[in-house]
Amino acid sequence: MCGIIGYTGSLGASDIILDGLTRMEYRGYDSAGMAYTTPSGKIALRKTVGKVKDLRAICDDDESTCGIGHTRWATHGGVTNANAHPHKVGNVALIHNGIIENYHEIVKEYNLSSDLVSETDSEVVAALINKLYDGDPTKTIKKVLSIIQGSFALGILFGDRPGSIYCVRNVSPMLGTHCKDGSFIASDLTAFIQFTKRYFIIPEYTIVTVRKDGILMEDLDGNNVEPEYLEVNWDVSAAEKDGYDHFMLKEIHEQPQSIIRTITPRIKDGLPDFSDEGIDDDFFKNVSDITIIACGTAMHAGIIGRTLIQKYLKIPVTVTIASEFRYEQPILNENSLVITVSQSGETIDTLAALRLAKEYTNKTLSLVNVKGSSIARESNYVLYTHAGPEIAVASTKAYTVQASMFYLLTAKLGLVQNKMSVDDAKAFIKNLEAVPSMMENMLSLDTHIKELTKRMQQSNNAFFIGRGLDYSLSMEGALKLKEISYIHAEAYAAGELKHGTIALITEGIPVIAIASQQHVYSKVISNIREVKARGAYVILISKDENITDNSICDAHLRLPDVDDDFTMFESIVILQMIAYYTAVGKGFNPDQPRNLAKSVTVE
Ligand code: M6R
Repeated sequence: MCGIIGYTGSLGASDIILDGLTRMEYRGYDSAGMAYTTPSGKIALRKTVGKVKDLRAICDDDESTCGIGHTRWATHGGVTNANAHPHKVGNVALIHNGIIENYHEIVKEYNLSSDLVSETDSEVVAALINKLYDGDPTKTIKKVLSIIQGSFALGILFGDRPGSIYCVRNVSPMLGTHCKDGSFIASDLTAFIQFTKRYFIIPEYTIVTVRKDGILMEDLDGNNVEPEYLEVNWDVSAAEKDGYDHFMLKEIHEQPQSIIRTITPRIKDGLPDFSDEGIDDDFFKNVSDITIIACGTAMHAGIIGRTLIQKYLKIPVTVTIASEFRYEQPILNENSLVITVSQSGETIDTLAALRLAKEYTNKTLSLVNVKGSSIARESNYVLYTHAGPEIAVASTKAYTVQASMFYLLTAKLGLVQNKMSVDDAKAFIKNLEAVPSMMENMLSLDTHIKELTKRMQQSNNAFFIGRGLDYSLSMEGALKLKEISYIHAEAYAAGELKHGTIALITEGIPVIAIASQQHVYSKVISNIREVKARGAYVILISKDENITDNSICDAHLRLPDVDDDFTMFESIVILQMIAYYTAVGKGFNPDQPRNLAKSVTVE
């Protein structure tokens, strides 16, 4: 969603802000803008619909050393120059990520309509600050906080305070840092990672004054708040394409290493061990049922978790879409384990669902990729995945590290609850450790897959079918294809097709069939024959070395001979590459699909 950056220091602000906005392009946006203070007490404003490069073309000031920048993902009001941020009212300029729920009421109550030129909720806050400003930014912001409702991360410039940026947040993420070149605020670390790996999360409802020589924070009662600095273990190169055409392709290729980084520190003597995270075995002992809550791809990783845990633990596991869970009456008790899964750790629906779950159980555990993010901080326990920064909107490496974490959890729960012997758990973990090198082998299929997707590019529809773990996986394959290639794709349990959907199978429709589960192999093959007989163009993914019969499929992608429980890692590489090459073949940029944002921080 919207990207925010602010810089004040000894260097030119304009380039730093434009570079930071470029690094945050992956978040998804439709317009960009920047405001900076001039020593004479003025605020200069530049903004435009389009890309950061369009903004760069209209920015001519390299003198200012203090400014704020924004990429907007439209929510309230269309994609227009007026609606782009920053919003300037009087001598106040403001950038905003989030949604102000009571902006209509504020306009009426404070008689602001004549100050407004946009349709946005954000401009109303700028107008309110301008109206209430009494020469003391902190005091004014406190007053405004008592009026506005909703989620927000605000960066504010006051013309009479050149060199200072003020900010405050509720729910919407915002980080800060001070380093030798000056001070920064940003929605995410990629914006300033080239300057420092150190950062802190700005606490909610804390008024932050950002100056060249340091950052001051105070709570609503006027007490000083000290920043709690964290440090990431990746650097600017991890947020660059490194010779790949797209971040998505780079991230597909990074999966083996991401899994190694995620699982290796948690395997001791061949068994899963979460003691470094302070999670001891008692935590898992009385777990009676599990609810996994997430959105999109992270939810699909949860579905893999459900399939595994139910198979080995034989306890009920529910996977719930976060935006549904938060408005339901949860069926949880104190022995229910709630696992929230999120790459960004900031997805607002998942965060709200976690908050609700905590009213019912203390056993909340999150699988999160971004250190110190809201979901990580608010869960009772967190297991960080170590995918490194995921820049492409289409999630790839985050999915496989989340899935790998569910394999560790399955073995841990199995051992603690005496459902898995030590020997079986060791064999299971050994299979998991073999995954990265098997995935490497699959990456070499790219030329073959690219060729196959020529056929996919011609279709408006595609189906993914499988049974068991393959069905769980095919949901993610379908999501990948539709979000970046804009081909309508659906995943179906192979046995369910003939209960309706097979009516849609016509000549040439691509069907990607995954058949890696031995116990249902012959059943899936029968289902494939059914679609093939109706003219489908079938790409089969299986371990079967004897597929020669073209009455079954048009193309066969062969999986290595690994245990059935572990084929998902090899299969997903194929599905990700099918989506990637189909999108690129159709001329789309898979890193920035239309209408999508990387981190969904609005409801
Ligand atoms: O940051 P999160 O993992 O919480 O994001 C959840 C979804 O928005 C995300 O997985 C989305 O579905 C993917 N980017 C799609 O590829």
